[in-house]
This record gives sequence, C-alpha cells and structure tokens, in this order.
Amino acid sequence: MTTKAFKRYLITSALPYANGPLHLGHLAGVYVPSDIYVRYLRQRDRDVISICGSDEHGVPITLKARNEGTTPQAVVDRYHELNKKAFKDFGISFDIYSRTSNKVHYETASGIFETLYKKGVFIEKTAEQYYDEEASAFLADRYITGTCPHCGNTSAYGDQCEQCGTSLSPSDLINPVSTISGNQPVLKETKHWYLPLDRYEEWLQKWILEEHKEWKPNVYGQCKSWLDQGLHPRAVSRDLDWGIPVPVEGADGKVLYVWFDAPIGYISATKELTPDWEKYWKDEETRLVHFIGKDNIVFHCIIFPTMLKAEGSYILPDNVPANEFLNLENDKISTSRNWAVWLHEYLEDFPGKQDVLRYVLCANAPENKDNDFTWKDFQNRNNNELVAILGNFVNRTFVLTHKYFDGEVPKITNLLDSDRSVLEEIKTIGGNVEKSLENFRFREAIKTGMDLARLGNKYLADTEPWKVIKTDPERVKTILNISLQITANLTLLLDPFLPFTMEKLRDFLLFSETSWDLIGSPDLLKTGHTIGKASLLFDKIEDDQIQAQLDKLMNTREENEEPASIAPQKEEITFEDFTRMDLRTGTIMEAEKVPKTKKLIRLRVDLGFEHRTIVSGIAEYYEPESLAGKKVCVLANLAPRKIKGIESRGMILLSENPDGSLHFVEPSEEAVNGSEVN
Ligand code: 2FM
Ligand code: ZN
Repeated sequence: MTTKAFKRYLITSALPYANGPLHLGHLAGVYVPSDIYVRYLRQRDRDVISICGSDEHGVPITLKARNEGTTPQAVVDRYHELNKKAFKDFGISFDIYSRTSNKVHYETASGIFETLYKKGVFIEKTAEQYYDEEASAFLADRYITGTCPHCGNTSAYGDQCEQCGTSLSPSDLINPVSTISGNQPVLKETKHWYLPLDRYEEWLQKWILEEHKEWKPNVYGQCKSWLDQGLHPRAVSRDLDWGIPVPVEGADGKVLYVWFDAPIGYISATKELTPDWEKYWKDEETRLVHFIGKDNIVFHCIIFPTMLKAEGSYILPDNVPANEFLNLENDKISTSRNWAVWLHEYLEDFPGKQDVLRYVLCANAPENKDNDFTWKDFQNRNNNELVAILGNFVNRTFVLTHKYFDGEVPKITNLLDSDRSVLEEIKTIGGNVEKSLENFRFREAIKTGMDLARLGNKYLADTEPWKVIKTDPERVKTILNISLQITANLTLLLDPFLPFTMEKLRDFLLFSETSWDLIGSPDLLKTGHTIGKASLLFDKIEDDQIQAQLDKLMNTREENEEPASIAPQKEEITFEDFTRMDLRTGTIMEAEKVPKTKKLIRLRVDLGFEHRTIVSGIAEYYEPESLAGKKVCVLANLAPRKIKGIESRGMILLSENPDGSLHFVEPSEEAVNGSEVN
C-alpha cells in the first residue's frame, strides 16, 4: 500500500507502436491521464520525469513494411515523427519521446538480456515451431493466422485473437496459415530463451496480491486471474530479422521478443534524458508508475517486473493504473477498418480545440469499464459544460470587472458568511481534486475541478452584482474580488486537464503563478492588480460540424462493408482439378415447388443427351412458372443425392450476391443443350 512519501516520480506511458497514426483511444486510455498526473506533480514541485517513445520492433511493423513494399525502418521513421508531433500538438508533455531503434536502447536491452543470461535466469529450449518452407522462415506471432479455438474467428493471430481478446500461441490455432505465402506451415525445431515465470510465481503472488491490493480492480483482477491459472516459462526471443539481435553465441537470426525490449525502452529513454538516470530507476525512494491500456497489463505487472526482479538492481512499479478501452460510436476502434478518429485529422477539423478533446476524453475516460465516445456527447460536453459553465463564468467575471472597475481587482470591503463559505469551498474543492488525482481517479478529478466554475456561476447568480451595482457599489467590489479569486484558482486547478486554455486564461489575467500549493490562498490575485482583456475561452460546436464527423465515419463504414461481404478466393486448384468437373448447358423443361419446403424447386432439365431431375434451392428468388425454357449451366457429374426423398442428379450453377440472393448463370441463346462448358 502506498502510504510512504516518495522523493521523486518516474512516470512512463506505454510506448505506442510506430506502425500507424494515433487515435483518440490512445489519448483516452493512456496519454491524457498520464499527462494530467505529470502536470499535477510538476505543479506540486515534485521531482518528476515523464517518459515515452516509439515501440519500433515487432511483427506488425515488418508486415506493414512488406505490404507497402518498403522497409521496416522506413515505416517506423514515418510514424515516429507523426506520432511525436501529434503528442506535442495535444500538449502531452513528455520529458522525452524516444524510440527503440536508438543505439542506447540496443545497448541497454542487450545488456539486460546478457545479465540475465549470465545469471542463468533463462531456460534454453528447443521446440517445434511453425515454419514456412517457401519463405524459409519461422513464423512468429502475427506471421501466422488461423481459426481461434475459443470464438471461431477465422483470422486470429498466432499470439492473440482480436475478436475475443484471448492470448494464444500459434499451436492453438485451427487450420494455421502463413501470412507470408498463404501456405500451410510445417513444424520444425528451433532454439529459444525462456523467462521462467513459474519460478517467480510465489514472489509475484505476494508482491501483487498481498502488497498491492490498492491497484485498480481491473488491474488487480487481471493479475490475479493470470496467477490463479499458473504461470509458464515464456519465450523472450524470436526467429525474425527485425529487432535487437540476441546477444549470445549461437543465436544467429534470432532477435529479442518485442515485449522483452519495449519496456526496457523506458530505461533507455531515461538514460538518454539524464545522466542521473539511475537515481530514478534504482532508488527505492522513487515512485515508478506505468500508464497503460488493459491489453498491456500482463507485460507491465508480471513479465517486466519479473525481468527487473531477476536482474536485481531496479525498482518495481508502485502502481499500474491501466484503463479499459474506448469505443467509437458503439463500435470497437479499429485501425484496419479505419474506424477511428485520427489525432492529426481531428486537429484539421477542429483547429485549436485540443483541450476540448482532452476534456471529453477525461470526463468520459474508460477508467473502470469500456466506454463509448460519441460525437453527440463531444458536442454536448463542449456546449453545455466548457462553454456554458467554465467559459460563461470567466467571461462574465472579466466583463463585469472591466465595466465597473476598469479591469482593476477591487478590494474586499466586507465579507459576509456566504462569501466566507465560498472562499472555504475553493480550498475544499482543491483538496478533493488532489485526492482524486493521487488515486488516479481522473474522471472524478475533472468533474470536481469543474465544480469550482459551477460554484462561480452560482455565486454570481446568487449575488447579482449587475443589480447590486445600482444600490451598493461597495458590495460589488467584494463580489468581483471573490469571482476573480475563483478565476485565478481555476487556472491552477484546471491546468493539468486544460493546459492550453489555462495558459490563455493566465495571459488574460496577467497572472503567472502555477503552484498547486497556492490553491485557496487569500488574495491569490492581488487587490489592485489590473487584468488584461479576454476573449471567449470556448465556442459552441454546431450541429453541422458534428454531422460532418458522423458522415465521415459512415462513409468509412460503407467503404468497408462491401468488400468485406464478398467471399474470399478459395484455395488454388490445378487445371486438372477443374477438368474433372463435367459442366454442360441445358434447358429447363418443367419446374415445380417441392411440397413442405421453403427453398426447393424440382426441375426437369434437357441436357441434350438425356433429361435429368435436379433439385435446386431457388424458390425464394424464382417462381416455378417463370422457369420453363430458361437456359442453365449444370454440373452434370456430381454424385446423385437424395433431397427430400427426390433423387437429384447434378447441380444448377448459381451466383450468390453479397446479400445472399441467388441468380442463374445463364449461357447465351446460341448454346446447344449438352455442350460442354470449359
Ligand atoms: O501495445 C502497445 O502499443 C505496445 N507498443 C506497448 C508497449 S509498452 C512498453 F512496454 F513499451
Ligand atoms: Zn477468439
């Protein structure tokens, strides 16, 4: 349990893969909460560093390069820059945004592997693994697809089924296929190094289940379920040519598993940031916190801590506040289906509105369960909360101060009990936001923070300075002084959440304090100080802007749907395979519905050399009366089958549309009955 006071903070945010742009799910799940926390700690003047960077290894990157006909390096170079810029544009204030293709990272990751190797931590094991004979390559993780044994998804990966979320190993897949050649792979022996998680099980049980009961229920629960099921040794090397070479003899063609090197990226990035890196990583007085999404829990709570424990000189995370997933308009965010709001596109459509997105993603963060982002909610929160509550209060305070006092902070003349309780409430709210932030409850924190603006609006509504000015101008001095104190406190309290807006507000106020400890202090904005001019902090988002976003998503859906419902091509066959089919043209002579069935029609077909009875499932699409005289193609040598007691000899060729409707494949009028189709 965290009761001890820490001397410094090391905050890491999951290193995103540099194989695609960032979307709002990334921001909501990991980077907005981590940035809020880091900004808050800085305001408290804590010694804190915030670490992130690109995760540049792993099979998806090599697959993307292969698909695009380029190199993995070119892929990661492109997305590293794009993502680094997106984070900066959204005010995600990392102290460093590094990358795992850096030299220092290669050295650090190899170094840790070597240390564990020399300590005899790893198990070296030769095991059979799928191998693509045509490509002469072992098939790691996503180089292999097949049917998920749990949910039947036919395109599950060798490491995970994205449909049901189960983590898999390639041997679990039914009908495995190589994604390189499309062939069925064979099993072949290969050597790998395994981290024996099972040997650390007892220690993990105690460390997590007993000593970290304060972890979020979703995180604690997932760890418990892993531990309850029992841990097994896990391979930390792969047969691939993209990654950090395994630094031991006899490991040609083998690289470190991406999940071995990626979290070490946090350490390498810290080394790159400061020569003092060891103080952050090796001193028990540092609080290490990993911000991640739920799919990363096992790696950050079980595997990486085991690596660090085995190495022996590093501290372990004190907390891992993982979030659940954010959906978009009731559907899972998906890069491959383009069902996402890309950060760089958002900024093109809503320039300058970074804080609006930060606000909505925090207010609606998937903290304890998966959550849904809708454009309607985005609009409502902007118009009814940011504009109507925060913007409105600040604007009225500025307008009234300029109107009655030429922008000078008036003196408090006489405090009523109601004024005192408002001033007290500022401190209470500050304390509550602090408590929420310390416990990683960011939704609660932002809601409570906005309560200060609500309090301001209520205060103005209750005291009505615009009326009182006519009868008691001295009283209005007090009212506006307090309103200005609330405004100045807002800049401190909301800065972690809305950094762009609060900077703007500080500029309007000509106020530069940012220290958290000043919240609620008397005369925060000094009496006699002159504030500057203000413009609106937020403006309304109109229906047509929201409709444009919804239309964009709907277009994506339509673009995606049609190709998805066309059946994929079947396995290749030879010409000989084809010639074994005896295809003929014929003419329907008679047709009648098969009684007590919905779909079947019994046909008599003239095949030139004989007349056949054939049963066909077309009754939902054709009336029997319309069929006599129609020319058809027939698979003539199909083995006879009894259908509803009728012997059917052959099959009529039909095409099936994506909606399931059936249509005859019709030969032209000139075709003579019985002629061969080939
Ligand atoms: O899930 C992901 O996007 C991973 N690239 C996260 C890595 S976090 C850390 F270990 F580097
Ligand atoms: Zn599945």
